[in-house]
Amino acid sequence: MNPFSISIAYKETFCNRSKEIALLKRNIASVTHTVIYAPRKFGKTSLAHVALGQVDDVIPIFVDLFKVESTYDVTMAIYREIVSALGRRAADMSSFGARFLNVFKRIRLSMEFKPLTNYPEFSISLGNDPPEAHLETVIQSLDAFCENEDIRVCLVLDEFQEITNLKESKKIEGMLRVGMQAARRVTFIMLGSRRRILRDMFEDRKRPFYKSAMIYQLPQIPATEFIPFLIEHFKAGGVDLVEEEAAEIVAFTDAYPHYTREMARIYFDLKPEGIPLEEVKNILIDMQEGFEEIFAGLTNHQKRLLRAIAEFRPENIFSQAFLVSGRLGSQGGVQTSLAKLKKLDVVEQREGRWRVVDPIFEKWLVK
Ligand SMILES: Nc1ncnc2c1ncn2[C@@H]1O[C@H](COP(=O)(O)OP(=O)(O)O)[C@@H](O)[C@H]1O
Ligand SMILES: [Mg+2]
Repeated sequence: MNPFSISIAYKETFCNRSKEIALLKRNIASVTHTVIYAPRKFGKTSLAHVALGQVDDVIPIFVDLFKVESTYDVTMAIYREIVSALGRRAADMSSFGARFLNVFKRIRLSMEFKPLTNYPEFSISLGNDPPEAHLETVIQSLDAFCENEDIRVCLVLDEFQEITNLKESKKIEGMLRVGMQAARRVTFIMLGSRRRILRDMFEDRKRPFYKSAMIYQLPQIPATEFIPFLIEHFKAGGVDLVEEEAAEIVAFTDAYPHYTREMARIYFDLKPEGIPLEEVKNILIDMQEGFEEIFAGLTNHQKRLLRAIAEFRPENIFSQAFLVSGRLGSQGGVQTSLAKLKKLDVVEQREGRWRVVDPIFEKWLVK
């Protein structure tokens, strides 16, 4: 079996991150809330799963906020995952519902035993109260329930920045913040990929979440870790990978976990057929979907600027030389386009140069 085919990295397929795992474990133990941010597909969700898999006495609750469109969605997503995570682990299933409702007084809960698994499945409804009333108390109730049951939980809010897109976002932020601050048995881990938005949320003193959590930018996995990891996993799957090839995969994908894994996955399958690594680079670029769409959403000037950044990786984006070689016109125009590209999290400054955040998008643009 291809050792790189699993899409979320667990235990054996997870490379390093020992420092971050230790940090999360410490923070969970001390009820210190943590924000982890990094670009998309950088390994945030995988990291949270792996770290929580190593904590025995804390129940993980994963809430994915990626598709929420309203306060109702946020509330239901949180409730649903709370009920399913806690219900699954309840020692005494039959009384769980009653104990739960005793604390979560606002909701309606119905339970049904599925014949196949004999596990109870709960369905929730909000009853008469509006979603805001629920959000205001859900964390407090969760904390109280944990107290009653003598348990602890870690609430992972994935793609947390999505709540800023909702029109009631300020209110939601405020309500969650109150619950978060008072919690004794609930540790929050908030994961996010829109870095600018997320940093603003936690570093702007006028916003509810200001200084409410430790903020951590997930760094790259060092090549010195990733290279032996690849070699070892190829070997375990019965395919030889020499060090130069492993280094080439890591370098080409910029140690960006999703792409490193994808390229490894493809090469693992094609190498025995004699397909060279060079060819795999093209396959990796060509198979990407979504770049077209991002690109199509830009104005012509933004497109030119993005292409020029991909090609030249400028140190000074307003220098005459760069403006000329990218046919970019005035500094003012570049300023406006750059603001848009930054907002989309498509470009960033890295080691003194302007770069496209996604290493394969960069190659696609140049190509
Ligand atoms: N430490 C790691 N070692 C190996 N593969 C990883 C690692 N972290 C992430 N990946 C891979 O990268 C991809 C994206 O990871 P994911 O956790 O979904 O990222 P994010 O939540 O940041 O979008 C997944 O396919 C995962 O298997
Ligand atoms: Mg994720």
